[in-house]
Amino acid sequence: MTVHLNEIGPAVLATEYAVRGPIVARAAELEQQGREIIFCNIGNPQSLGQKPLTWNRQILALCEYPELMELAANVFPEDAIAAARAILEGTRYGLGAYSESRGVRFIREAVASYIWERDGIVTDPDAIMLTDGASKGVQTVLRLLIAGPGDGIMVPIPQYPLYSASITLYRGKMVPYYLDEANDWKLSRPMLESALAKALAEGTRVKAICVINPGNPTGGVLDEANIRMVVEFAQEHGLSILADEVYQENVYREGDSFVSFAKVHQALDAKDVSLFSFHSCSKGLLGECGMRGGYFEYRNVPEDVSAQILKLQSVCLCANLVGQAAVYAMVHPPKPGMPSHPLYIQERRTILEALKLRATLLVEGLNRIEGITCNTIAGAMYAFPAITLPPGRTDSDYAMALLEETGICVVPGSGFGQAEGTAHFRTTILPPTDKIQKVVEAIGAFQRNYR
Ligand SMILES: Cc1ncc(COP(=O)(O)O)c(C=O)c1O
Repeated sequence: MTVHLNEIGPAVLATEYAVRGPIVARAAELEQQGREIIFCNIGNPQSLGQKPLTWNRQILALCEYPELMELAANVFPEDAIAAARAILEGTRYGLGAYSESRGVRFIREAVASYIWERDGIVTDPDAIMLTDGASKGVQTVLRLLIAGPGDGIMVPIPQYPLYSASITLYRGKMVPYYLDEANDWKLSRPMLESALAKALAEGTRVKAICVINPGNPTGGVLDEANIRMVVEFAQEHGLSILADEVYQENVYREGDSFVSFAKVHQALDAKDVSLFSFHSCSKGLLGECGMRGGYFEYRNVPEDVSAQILKLQSVCLCANLVGQAAVYAMVHPPKPGMPSHPLYIQERRTILEALKLRATLLVEGLNRIEGITCNTIAGAMYAFPAITLPPGRTDSDYAMALLEETGICVVPGSGFGQAEGTAHFRTTILPPTDKIQKVVEAIGAFQRNYR
Protein backbone atom coordinates (compact mmCIF):
# COMPACT_ATOMS: atom_id res chain seq x y z
CA MET A 1 0.00 0.00 0.00
CA THR A 2 1.23 3.49 -0.82
CA VAL A 3 1.24 5.96 2.03
CA HIS A 4 -0.96 9.00 1.34
CA LEU A 5 -0.52 12.44 2.83
CA ASN A 6 -4.06 12.48 4.24
CA GLU A 7 -3.20 9.41 6.34
CA ILE A 8 -0.22 10.98 8.01
CA GLY A 9 -0.63 12.13 11.62
CA PRO A 10 -1.89 15.73 11.89
CA ALA A 11 0.85 16.50 14.41
CA VAL A 12 3.48 15.60 11.81
CA LEU A 13 1.76 17.76 9.19
CA ALA A 14 1.54 20.69 11.61
CA THR A 15 5.24 20.53 12.52
CA GLU A 16 7.41 23.31 11.05
CA TYR A 17 11.15 23.86 11.09
CA ALA A 18 12.10 27.19 9.54
CA VAL A 19 15.86 26.78 9.68
CA ARG A 20 15.57 24.30 6.81
CA GLY A 21 12.36 25.67 5.25
CA PRO A 22 11.38 26.89 1.75
CA ILE A 23 13.99 29.66 1.58
CA VAL A 24 16.75 27.15 2.19
CA ALA A 25 15.25 24.82 -0.43
CA ARG A 26 15.31 27.70 -2.95
CA ALA A 27 18.92 28.48 -1.97
CA ALA A 28 19.91 24.88 -2.74
CA GLU A 29 18.13 25.13 -6.11
CA LEU A 30 19.96 28.36 -6.99
CA GLU A 31 23.26 26.81 -5.95
CA GLN A 32 22.62 23.87 -8.25
CA GLN A 33 22.08 26.37 -11.05
CA GLY A 34 25.56 27.72 -10.37
CA ARG A 35 24.82 30.78 -8.18
CA GLU A 36 27.18 31.51 -5.31
CA ILE A 37 25.12 31.24 -2.13
CA ILE A 38 26.31 32.34 1.31
CA PHE A 39 24.49 30.10 3.73
CA CYS A 40 23.84 32.23 6.81
CA ASN A 41 20.79 30.22 7.79
CA ILE A 42 22.19 27.54 10.04
CA GLY A 43 24.70 27.31 12.88
CA ASN A 44 26.84 24.68 11.18
CA PRO A 45 30.38 26.05 11.75
CA GLN A 46 32.42 23.53 9.79
CA SER A 47 30.26 23.96 6.68
CA LEU A 48 31.52 27.56 6.67
CA GLY A 49 35.17 26.74 7.14
CA GLN A 50 35.67 26.42 10.93
CA LYS A 51 38.49 23.92 11.39
CA PRO A 52 37.94 20.97 13.73
CA LEU A 53 40.15 20.96 16.82
CA THR A 54 43.21 18.76 16.37
CA TRP A 55 42.71 17.31 19.88
CA ASN A 56 39.27 15.99 18.92
CA ARG A 57 40.20 14.60 15.58
CA GLN A 58 43.31 12.79 16.81
CA ILE A 59 41.32 11.11 19.56
CA LEU A 60 38.45 10.22 17.24
CA ALA A 61 40.75 8.88 14.52
CA LEU A 62 42.38 6.53 17.02
CA CYS A 63 39.06 5.45 18.49
CA GLU A 64 37.65 4.70 15.05
CA TYR A 65 40.71 2.73 13.97
CA PRO A 66 42.63 1.47 17.01
CA GLU A 67 45.13 -0.25 14.71
CA LEU A 68 46.58 3.24 14.23
CA MET A 69 47.74 3.37 17.87
CA GLU A 70 51.19 1.97 17.20
CA LEU A 71 51.76 4.06 14.09
CA ALA A 72 50.43 7.12 15.88
CA ALA A 73 52.96 6.72 18.68
CA ASN A 74 55.46 8.65 16.56
CA VAL A 75 52.96 11.16 15.18
CA PHE A 76 50.25 12.04 17.70
CA PRO A 77 51.00 13.50 21.15
CA GLU A 78 50.96 10.98 23.97
CA ASP A 79 48.04 12.65 25.79
CA ALA A 80 45.76 12.26 22.73
CA ILE A 81 46.77 8.60 22.48
CA ALA A 82 46.12 8.13 26.20
CA ALA A 83 42.69 9.76 25.89
CA ALA A 84 41.76 7.49 22.97
CA ARG A 85 42.94 4.42 24.89
CA ALA A 86 40.89 5.48 27.89
CA ILE A 87 37.75 5.87 25.75
CA LEU A 88 38.27 2.47 24.13
CA GLU A 89 38.79 0.84 27.53
CA GLY A 90 35.73 2.66 28.84
CA THR A 91 33.57 1.38 25.98
CA ARG A 92 35.04 -2.13 26.41
CA TYR A 93 34.14 -3.15 22.83
CA GLY A 94 35.10 -0.06 20.83
CA LEU A 95 32.94 2.37 18.90
CA GLY A 96 31.22 -0.31 16.83
CA ALA A 97 29.21 -1.77 19.69
CA TYR A 98 26.13 -0.39 21.49
CA SER A 99 26.91 1.10 24.87
CA GLU A 100 24.64 1.07 27.89
CA SER A 101 21.59 3.25 27.27
CA ARG A 102 22.74 6.22 29.35
CA GLY A 103 26.03 6.21 27.45
CA VAL A 104 29.48 4.94 28.39
CA ARG A 105 29.84 5.36 32.16
CA PHE A 106 33.44 6.51 31.93
CA ILE A 107 32.36 9.37 29.63
CA ARG A 108 29.49 10.31 31.93
CA GLU A 109 31.99 10.46 34.80
CA ALA A 110 34.11 12.81 32.69
CA VAL A 111 31.03 15.02 32.13
CA ALA A 112 30.43 15.07 35.90
CA SER A 113 34.07 16.16 36.45
CA TYR A 114 33.68 18.87 33.81
CA ILE A 115 30.62 20.25 35.62
CA TRP A 116 32.54 20.10 38.89
CA GLU A 117 35.40 22.11 37.37
CA ARG A 118 33.00 24.59 35.76
CA ASP A 119 30.62 25.10 38.68
CA GLY A 120 32.06 23.40 41.77
CA ILE A 121 28.95 21.23 42.13
CA VAL A 122 28.53 17.48 42.28
CA THR A 123 26.67 15.64 39.52
CA ASP A 124 25.55 12.03 39.66
CA PRO A 125 26.91 10.28 36.52
CA ASP A 126 23.67 8.27 36.48
CA ALA A 127 21.73 11.52 36.07
CA ILE A 128 23.63 12.23 32.84
CA MET A 129 22.41 10.93 29.49
CA LEU A 130 24.64 11.00 26.45
CA THR A 131 22.50 11.84 23.43
CA ASP A 132 22.67 12.22 19.64
CA GLY A 133 23.23 15.98 19.82
CA ALA A 134 21.36 18.15 22.30
CA SER A 135 18.27 17.88 20.06
CA LYS A 136 17.53 14.29 21.05
CA GLY A 137 17.92 15.15 24.72
CA VAL A 138 15.51 18.08 24.43
CA GLN A 139 13.01 15.82 22.66
CA THR A 140 13.31 13.13 25.34
CA VAL A 141 12.57 15.65 28.09
CA LEU A 142 9.67 17.27 26.22
CA ARG A 143 8.27 13.79 25.52
CA LEU A 144 8.49 13.05 29.22
CA LEU A 145 6.86 16.29 30.38
CA ILE A 146 4.02 16.55 27.87
CA ALA A 147 1.48 14.14 29.27
CA GLY A 148 -1.59 15.38 27.42
CA PRO A 149 -2.83 17.96 24.89
CA GLY A 150 -3.45 20.58 27.58
CA ASP A 151 0.16 20.49 28.81
CA GLY A 152 2.17 23.59 28.09
CA ILE A 153 5.85 24.43 27.92
CA MET A 154 6.98 28.04 28.24
CA VAL A 155 9.29 28.85 25.35
CA PRO A 156 11.10 32.14 24.65
CA ILE A 157 10.08 34.24 21.70
CA PRO A 158 12.14 34.39 19.60
CA GLN A 159 13.05 30.70 20.05
CA TYR A 160 14.99 27.95 18.35
CA PRO A 161 12.37 26.00 16.36
CA LEU A 162 13.38 22.62 17.80
CA TYR A 163 11.08 23.62 20.67
CA SER A 164 8.00 24.67 18.70
CA ALA A 165 8.41 21.71 16.32
CA SER A 166 8.82 19.10 19.06
CA ILE A 167 6.00 20.48 21.21
CA THR A 168 3.69 20.34 18.17
CA LEU A 169 4.85 16.80 17.41
CA TYR A 170 4.09 15.66 20.97
CA ARG A 171 0.75 17.47 20.89
CA GLY A 172 1.57 19.81 23.72
CA LYS A 173 1.00 23.55 23.83
CA MET A 174 3.71 26.10 23.36
CA VAL A 175 3.35 28.91 25.89
CA PRO A 176 5.31 31.81 24.41
CA TYR A 177 7.05 34.36 26.62
CA TYR A 178 8.76 37.34 25.07
CA LEU A 179 12.39 38.29 25.44
CA ASP A 180 12.94 41.98 25.93
CA GLU A 181 14.59 43.27 22.74
CA ALA A 182 14.90 46.78 24.17
CA ASN A 183 16.76 45.37 27.16
CA ASP A 184 19.38 43.25 25.42
CA TRP A 185 17.00 40.29 24.97
CA LYS A 186 16.86 39.68 28.74
CA LEU A 187 13.97 37.88 30.39
CA SER A 188 11.73 39.96 32.56
CA ARG A 189 9.64 38.69 35.42
CA PRO A 190 6.52 40.69 34.40
CA MET A 191 6.73 39.20 30.90
CA LEU A 192 7.01 35.68 32.36
CA GLU A 193 4.12 36.30 34.74
CA SER A 194 1.83 37.65 32.03
CA ALA A 195 2.63 34.76 29.64
CA LEU A 196 1.91 32.25 32.41
CA ALA A 197 -1.27 33.99 33.54
CA LYS A 198 -2.59 34.03 29.96
CA ALA A 199 -1.87 30.31 29.50
CA LEU A 200 -3.48 29.39 32.83
CA ALA A 201 -6.56 31.46 31.94
CA GLU A 202 -6.82 29.45 28.70
CA GLY A 203 -6.80 26.20 30.70
CA THR A 204 -3.24 25.18 29.85
CA ARG A 205 -1.46 23.07 32.44
CA VAL A 206 1.97 24.68 32.34
CA LYS A 207 4.67 22.14 33.17
CA ALA A 208 8.01 23.75 32.44
CA ILE A 209 9.93 26.75 31.26
CA CYS A 210 12.64 26.49 28.66
CA VAL A 211 15.51 28.99 28.58
CA ILE A 212 18.18 29.21 25.87
CA ASN A 213 21.37 30.78 27.21
CA PRO A 214 23.37 32.10 25.40
CA GLY A 215 20.43 32.79 23.13
CA ASN A 216 19.59 31.50 19.71
CA PRO A 217 18.57 33.50 17.69
CA THR A 218 19.06 36.57 19.90
CA GLY A 219 22.77 36.42 20.81
CA GLY A 220 21.83 37.48 24.35
CA VAL A 221 23.70 36.24 27.44
CA LEU A 222 21.85 36.09 30.75
CA ASP A 223 23.49 37.23 33.95
CA GLU A 224 23.24 35.48 37.28
CA ALA A 225 20.44 37.71 38.56
CA ASN A 226 18.34 36.91 35.50
CA ILE A 227 18.89 33.17 35.95
CA ARG A 228 18.07 33.40 39.65
CA MET A 229 14.86 35.18 38.74
CA VAL A 230 13.88 32.29 36.43
CA VAL A 231 14.65 29.63 39.05
CA GLU A 232 12.58 31.53 41.64
CA PHE A 233 9.76 31.96 39.12
CA ALA A 234 9.81 28.19 38.46
CA GLN A 235 9.85 27.53 42.21
CA GLU A 236 6.86 29.75 42.87
CA HIS A 237 4.79 28.30 40.05
CA GLY A 238 5.77 24.63 40.34
CA LEU A 239 7.55 24.41 36.98
CA SER A 240 10.47 22.33 35.78
CA ILE A 241 13.29 24.04 33.88
CA LEU A 242 14.90 23.10 30.58
CA ALA A 243 18.21 24.97 30.32
CA ASP A 244 19.55 24.86 26.77
CA GLU A 245 23.22 25.75 27.22
CA VAL A 246 24.69 24.53 23.95
CA TYR A 247 26.40 27.91 23.35
CA GLN A 248 28.11 28.07 26.75
CA GLU A 249 31.58 28.48 25.16
CA ASN A 250 30.35 31.20 22.77
CA VAL A 251 30.48 34.35 24.89
CA TYR A 252 32.18 37.37 23.30
CA ARG A 253 31.20 40.58 25.03
CA GLU A 254 33.61 41.96 27.62
CA GLY A 255 32.13 41.66 31.09
CA ASP A 256 29.72 38.85 30.17
CA SER A 257 30.29 35.28 31.21
CA PHE A 258 28.35 32.06 31.06
CA VAL A 259 26.54 31.12 34.28
CA SER A 260 24.94 27.71 34.33
CA PHE A 261 21.43 27.07 35.61
CA ALA A 262 22.81 24.11 37.56
CA LYS A 263 25.08 26.37 39.60
CA VAL A 264 22.33 28.87 40.44
CA HIS A 265 19.83 26.09 41.10
CA GLN A 266 22.28 24.54 43.55
CA ALA A 267 23.08 27.88 45.20
CA LEU A 268 19.37 28.52 45.74
CA ASP A 269 18.91 24.97 46.98
CA ALA A 270 15.86 24.77 44.70
CA LYS A 271 14.96 21.23 45.72
CA ASP A 272 11.40 21.61 44.51
CA VAL A 273 12.42 22.35 40.89
CA SER A 274 13.48 19.67 38.43
CA LEU A 275 16.23 20.99 36.19
CA PHE A 276 17.33 19.52 32.85
CA SER A 277 20.49 21.08 31.34
CA PHE A 278 21.63 20.42 27.76
CA HIS A 279 25.02 20.65 26.12
CA SER A 280 26.39 19.71 22.73
CA CYS A 281 29.51 19.12 20.61
CA SER A 282 27.91 21.05 17.75
CA LYS A 283 28.69 24.60 18.85
CA GLY A 284 31.38 26.38 20.85
CA LEU A 285 34.90 25.56 19.81
CA LEU A 286 34.18 22.16 18.44
CA GLY A 287 31.51 22.92 15.86
CA GLU A 288 31.24 19.16 15.36
CA CYS A 289 27.56 19.23 14.31
CA GLY A 290 27.94 16.11 12.19
CA MET A 291 29.19 14.01 15.10
CA ARG A 292 25.81 14.34 16.81
CA GLY A 293 27.36 14.38 20.29
CA GLY A 294 25.56 15.85 23.28
CA TYR A 295 24.32 15.20 26.77
CA PHE A 296 21.76 16.30 29.29
CA GLU A 297 22.03 16.19 33.05
CA TYR A 298 19.17 16.44 35.49
CA ARG A 299 18.68 17.38 39.12
CA ASN A 300 15.84 16.84 41.55
CA VAL A 301 14.16 14.17 39.49
CA PRO A 302 12.66 11.36 41.59
CA GLU A 303 14.00 7.87 40.98
CA ASP A 304 10.80 6.52 39.44
CA VAL A 305 10.78 9.35 36.87
CA SER A 306 14.49 8.85 36.25
CA ALA A 307 13.68 5.22 35.44
CA GLN A 308 11.22 6.45 32.81
CA ILE A 309 13.90 8.69 31.27
CA LEU A 310 16.17 5.69 31.09
CA LYS A 311 13.39 3.66 29.49
CA LEU A 312 12.84 6.34 26.82
CA GLN A 313 16.56 6.40 26.14
CA SER A 314 16.64 2.59 25.92
CA VAL A 315 14.05 2.53 23.14
CA CYS A 316 16.77 3.73 20.76
CA LEU A 317 19.41 1.63 22.58
CA CYS A 318 22.02 4.35 23.01
CA ALA A 319 23.48 7.52 21.50
CA ASN A 320 25.95 6.99 18.66
CA LEU A 321 29.38 6.10 19.97
CA VAL A 322 31.39 8.52 17.83
CA GLY A 323 29.29 11.33 19.31
CA GLN A 324 29.92 9.95 22.80
CA ALA A 325 33.68 9.95 22.13
CA ALA A 326 33.39 13.55 20.87
CA VAL A 327 31.66 14.48 24.15
CA TYR A 328 34.64 13.02 26.01
CA ALA A 329 37.07 15.11 23.94
CA MET A 330 34.95 18.21 24.66
CA VAL A 331 34.74 17.75 28.42
CA HIS A 332 38.31 16.51 28.79
CA PRO A 333 40.51 19.07 27.02
CA PRO A 334 44.30 18.86 27.40
CA LYS A 335 45.50 20.41 30.67
CA PRO A 336 48.39 22.90 31.00
CA GLY A 337 51.68 21.03 30.79
CA MET A 338 50.26 18.29 28.56
CA PRO A 339 51.80 18.03 25.08
CA SER A 340 48.54 18.89 23.24
CA HIS A 341 47.83 21.94 25.38
CA PRO A 342 49.69 24.69 23.44
CA LEU A 343 48.09 23.81 20.09
CA TYR A 344 44.68 23.42 21.72
CA ILE A 345 44.95 26.89 23.26
CA GLN A 346 46.09 28.40 19.98
CA GLU A 347 43.24 26.80 18.03
CA ARG A 348 40.76 27.82 20.70
CA ARG A 349 41.92 31.42 20.62
CA THR A 350 41.84 31.55 16.81
CA ILE A 351 38.25 30.29 16.68
CA LEU A 352 36.89 32.47 19.46
CA GLU A 353 38.68 35.61 18.27
CA ALA A 354 37.39 35.13 14.72
CA LEU A 355 33.82 34.68 15.98
CA LYS A 356 34.12 37.74 18.21
CA LEU A 357 35.46 39.86 15.35
CA ARG A 358 32.69 38.70 13.00
CA ALA A 359 30.05 39.38 15.66
CA THR A 360 31.33 42.97 15.97
CA LEU A 361 31.69 43.55 12.23
CA LEU A 362 28.22 42.21 11.56
CA VAL A 363 26.41 44.23 14.21
CA GLU A 364 28.27 47.46 13.46
CA GLY A 365 27.66 46.99 9.74
CA LEU A 366 23.98 46.17 10.14
CA ASN A 367 23.41 49.14 12.44
CA ARG A 368 24.83 51.47 9.78
CA ILE A 369 22.04 50.43 7.39
CA GLU A 370 18.93 52.57 7.47
CA GLY A 371 15.91 50.51 8.46
CA ILE A 372 17.90 47.86 10.36
CA THR A 373 18.67 47.81 14.08
CA CYS A 374 20.55 45.04 15.84
CA ASN A 375 21.44 44.37 19.46
CA THR A 376 25.04 43.54 20.31
CA ILE A 377 25.84 39.87 19.86
CA ALA A 378 26.98 39.01 23.38
CA GLY A 379 27.12 35.27 22.69
CA ALA A 380 26.02 32.27 20.56
CA MET A 381 26.42 32.50 16.77
CA TYR A 382 23.65 34.72 15.44
CA ALA A 383 22.34 38.21 14.89
CA PHE A 384 18.61 38.83 14.96
CA PRO A 385 18.21 42.35 13.56
CA ALA A 386 14.90 44.16 13.41
CA ILE A 387 13.95 45.36 9.92
CA THR A 388 11.51 47.93 8.62
CA LEU A 389 9.43 46.50 5.80
CA PRO A 390 7.52 48.30 3.08
CA PRO A 391 3.73 48.05 3.54
CA GLY A 392 2.27 44.69 2.56
CA ARG A 393 5.57 42.77 2.70
CA THR A 394 6.41 40.02 5.19
CA ASP A 395 9.77 38.99 6.57
CA SER A 396 9.55 35.83 4.43
CA ASP A 397 9.14 37.99 1.31
CA TYR A 398 12.16 39.96 2.46
CA ALA A 399 14.34 36.87 3.05
CA MET A 400 13.33 35.36 -0.30
CA ALA A 401 14.02 38.60 -2.17
CA LEU A 402 17.37 38.94 -0.36
CA LEU A 403 18.28 35.44 -1.48
CA GLU A 404 17.24 35.96 -5.09
CA GLU A 405 19.03 39.27 -5.38
CA THR A 406 22.22 38.72 -3.37
CA GLY A 407 22.61 34.97 -2.85
CA ILE A 408 22.54 35.47 0.95
CA CYS A 409 20.42 32.88 2.70
CA VAL A 410 18.94 34.01 6.04
CA VAL A 411 15.90 32.82 7.98
CA PRO A 412 12.85 35.08 8.39
CA GLY A 413 12.12 36.12 11.98
CA SER A 414 8.69 34.53 11.87
CA GLY A 415 10.44 31.12 11.91
CA PHE A 416 11.56 31.90 15.47
CA GLY A 417 8.62 34.04 16.57
CA GLN A 418 8.75 37.79 17.19
CA ALA A 419 6.72 40.46 18.94
CA GLU A 420 3.65 41.46 16.99
CA GLY A 421 4.21 44.34 14.61
CA THR A 422 7.97 43.67 14.38
CA ALA A 423 9.97 41.94 11.64
CA HIS A 424 13.43 40.39 11.81
CA PHE A 425 15.74 37.96 10.12
CA ARG A 426 18.35 35.68 11.60
CA THR A 427 21.82 35.41 10.19
CA THR A 428 24.77 33.46 11.56
CA ILE A 429 28.15 35.05 12.25
CA LEU A 430 29.86 32.03 10.77
CA PRO A 431 30.97 33.01 7.24
CA PRO A 432 34.69 33.86 7.05
CA THR A 433 35.53 37.46 7.99
CA ASP A 434 35.93 38.73 4.38
CA LYS A 435 32.56 37.21 3.49
CA ILE A 436 30.90 38.79 6.53
CA GLN A 437 31.97 42.16 5.14
CA LYS A 438 30.46 41.25 1.77
CA VAL A 439 27.27 40.09 3.48
CA VAL A 440 26.90 43.43 5.26
CA GLU A 441 27.52 45.44 2.08
CA ALA A 442 25.12 43.31 0.05
CA ILE A 443 22.38 43.55 2.70
CA GLY A 444 22.90 47.35 2.79
CA ALA A 445 22.51 47.69 -0.99
CA PHE A 446 19.52 45.36 -0.99
CA GLN A 447 17.82 47.18 1.87
CA ARG A 448 18.12 50.57 0.14
CA ASN A 449 16.33 49.22 -2.96
CA TYR A 450 13.82 47.12 -1.10
CA ARG A 451 12.56 50.05 0.91
C1 LIG B 1 19.57 26.54 21.03
C2 LIG B 1 19.90 25.25 20.37
N1 LIG B 1 19.65 24.11 21.02
C3 LIG B 1 19.92 22.92 20.47
C4 LIG B 1 20.47 22.83 19.21
C5 LIG B 1 20.73 21.48 18.63
O1 LIG B 1 22.05 21.11 18.70
P1 LIG B 1 22.56 19.66 18.39
O2 LIG B 1 23.32 19.73 17.11
O3 LIG B 1 23.43 19.33 19.55
O4 LIG B 1 21.39 18.74 18.30
C6 LIG B 1 20.76 23.99 18.49
C7 LIG B 1 21.31 23.92 17.13
O5 LIG B 1 21.46 24.90 16.43
C8 LIG B 1 20.47 25.23 19.09
O6 LIG B 1 20.72 26.38 18.47
